[in-house]
Amino acid sequence: MTKEPIIQLNHIDVTFHNKGQTVKAVQDVSLEVARGDIYGVVGYSGAGKSTLVRVINRLQRPTAGTVTVNGQNILALRSSELRAARKKIGMIFQHFNLMNARTIADNVDYPLKGSGLSRKERHDKVARLLDLVGLSEKAQDYPAQLSGGQKQRVAIARALANDPEILISDEATSALDPKTTSAILELLKRLNKELGLTVVLITHEMDAVKEICNKVAVMEDGAIIERGDLVSIFSNPQKPLTRDFINTATQIDQALEKIYKQAKGLGLDDHHQLVQLKYVGASTDAPLITELFKRYQVVSNILYGNVEILQDTPLGNLVVVMAGEPDQLEQAWQYCRDAGIQLTFLKPKDPEVA
Ligand SMILES: Nc1ncnc2c1ncn2[C@@H]1O[C@H](COP(=O)(O)OP(=O)(O)O)[C@@H](O)[C@H]1O
Ligand SMILES: [Mg+2]
Repeated sequence: MTKEPIIQLNHIDVTFHNKGQTVKAVQDVSLEVARGDIYGVVGYSGAGKSTLVRVINRLQRPTAGTVTVNGQNILALRSSELRAARKKIGMIFQHFNLMNARTIADNVDYPLKGSGLSRKERHDKVARLLDLVGLSEKAQDYPAQLSGGQKQRVAIARALANDPEILISDEATSALDPKTTSAILELLKRLNKELGLTVVLITHEMDAVKEICNKVAVMEDGAIIERGDLVSIFSNPQKPLTRDFINTATQIDQALEKIYKQAKGLGLDDHHQLVQLKYVGASTDAPLITELFKRYQVVSNILYGNVEILQDTPLGNLVVVMAGEPDQLEQAWQYCRDAGIQLTFLKPKDPEVA
């Protein structure tokens, strides 16, 4: 028996009517998030990501569809029940939304008002939360004294105050530099592991998804166009938009651009083919290239190589010029395919070299 998903969105539509304009922000989206997932939702600005996740805690009521969180029908809850349900769903945002006139400790304490905890219990809890995010020393500081990354840590501590089971991160790293982004993502991953927190990570950067998510959905024009576990999406994307996101994240776009610029110098012809090799799992490039030479006298000149480790699975990407006799090349490619390697024959776009 499969475990019931912690979040279940069924056939969600969200339609806005604004000054005679109709915007279908979310169209027939169904999404299941399992307990313990770090589920990435990636898409460009305006794709409908924020609207979709706001449906989870009914900050946005859908025009159609059903929402089940933790077994509860969210759309049927009365306001007191909804308040209780929302406490179990933390949220963090791009702009932190801290109260600037209050200390860090007071910011984290704020959601505990009305929790029934004593002053002492609240004080201890705030201390624990600040320790959890590595900010114990900053308790009496004010938000203005903190860096962006530290502010986001405060926002995370505050979001965790009521011991939520779900944390929704809506572009929480989008205002941060790459190093700080990685540190925040690492923190989310640690919270996922240590607290069993389910995370929904909204972002326009596949890089962020790549670092910590186990599942990913790609959104475009209000719809989910592709979804799956991280490794299969990265190793075998179906939609052009998904490929775009991945190529940007793995920096292969920039590499190919450079390679295409040099294409003339590569002397491509029947005996020299520009090939991209993609492989998942343990196979490594060095033995393969040796093997291709030993078996078929095919020489592979590596122009670009990258290995991503996704969910502990290596995902390799090589761009090589393979040189050899045409029939030997054919056999070498077949050997690669038999070894589970995906081949793409790259054709430089410049007509002079094509
Ligand atoms: N409250 C609203 N009223 C009218 N249109 C909205 C509202 N919120 C979002 N939209 C529109 O819905 C679409 C999706 O927006 P949003 O969910 O914010 O996308 P994303 O988070 O992916 O950038 C956009 O076209 C946006 O302008
Ligand atoms: Mg948004």
